Amino acid sequence: MLFSTTQQHEELRTRVRAFAEEEIKPLTFLMDKENQFPDDAVAKLGKMGLMGIPFPADSGGMGLDMISYAIAVEELARVDGGTGVILSAHTSLGTWPIFAFGNEAQKKKYLIPLCKGEKIGAFGLTEPNAGSDAGGTETTAVDKGDHYLLNGGKIFITNAPKADTYVVFAVTTPDIGVRGISAFIVEKGWKGFEFGDHYDKMGIRSSSTAELIFNDVKVPKENLLGKEGQGFKIAMATLDGGRIGIAAQALGIAQGAFEQAVTYAKERVQFGKPIGFQQAISFKIADMATKLRTARFLVYSAAELKENHMPFGMESAMAKQYAADIALEVTNDALQIFGGTGYLKGMEVERMYRDAKITTIYEGTNEIQRIVIASHILGKPPK
Ligand code: CAA
Repeated sequence: MLFSTTQQHEELRTRVRAFAEEEIKPLTFLMDKENQFPDDAVAKLGKMGLMGIPFPADSGGMGLDMISYAIAVEELARVDGGTGVILSAHTSLGTWPIFAFGNEAQKKKYLIPLCKGEKIGAFGLTEPNAGSDAGGTETTAVDKGDHYLLNGGKIFITNAPKADTYVVFAVTTPDIGVRGISAFIVEKGWKGFEFGDHYDKMGIRSSSTAELIFNDVKVPKENLLGKEGQGFKIAMATLDGGRIGIAAQALGIAQGAFEQAVTYAKERVQFGKPIGFQQAISFKIADMATKLRTARFLVYSAAELKENHMPFGMESAMAKQYAADIALEVTNDALQIFGGTGYLKGMEVERMYRDAKITTIYEGTNEIQRIVIASHILGKPPK
């Protein structure tokens, strides 16, 4: 397999990098400290077209490919992991399922403003008893003729409460397992739809994460996404693509920490020479660079497969699992290179070390990624 990015990809990288350096970097310390969402920066991302990168122009998108999208998430996360996941959750989880499964009316009403960045999207799958076992959904949507009555709740929802549009999964036919789950488009502000806990997280603190509570929310029939009973497959297909976004986020966080560590290793002198020229540190840097290069190939090649409508579920799981695992290793090594200085609040490697951890947990823990990868190789277990 030959793989390289194009000039267009690299031009986009330059543009997003400049934006991240100029508009986001100066805010990262305060956003992390105060749990602040970058409202203005996200609005600017919308104006730049970056909230709709992989969607066609007639949907309000940029009409670029999945690699472009991965590069944009990577470049935002290189400066701020929280902003990286805001874009990833909005694009892959909040917008893509409407693009892929929405009817014309749904696309007109919801997809266009999402792609233009006029609205922010989110994805409501996880529940207290349905985390890794996403099929354990307990939220219900009861058919009441012209609407469904939605009851239950979701936890750990990225972009809530900032998001306007939520793709929510609920049981429409009980007792038949995952085939009884359906997907709905739910709007913020509807009666009975409230936000519970706003989580105080270890990392990615510039992103918002909240609990969704549904109390007799009337969801119009026309907001059923896809067919009744198709919800679990919609969720799984969405996550296949979403994992490319999280892999790109992990890659970006690791890249940011790596660059910090290289700069420091060239400046910091101990035993008469910069520490980067001591073998203990130079070998670390060599290993970090190799891991980053491997992760980048995995991420971009999964994106390329998706772009070309080829099977990519295993490859996106591999990219997510590997990039997240190495993000932990690389940020850990970066902090180690900084020594005591890196352990101080205000140091970017300290924040990046905390930001990296979530990438091994959300959009399917890395244990779940290994289940997905193994099931692609081995198939279903014998009965
Ligand atoms: N695409 C389409 N359909 C799929 C699919 C896929 N990738 N994977 C499974 N399915 C279908 C299967 O074909 C099967 O359908 P049939 O019965 O018709 O054949 C059905 O779904 C059930 O499949 P499984 O028996 O494999 O399902 P399972 O219950 O064993 O679960 C799992 C599989 C992979 C473990 C799944 O539960 C899973 O992905 N769990 C992790 C959940 C997750 O990633 N949550 C993330 C929440 S979002 C988030 O974290 C975002 C954020 O904050 C940024």
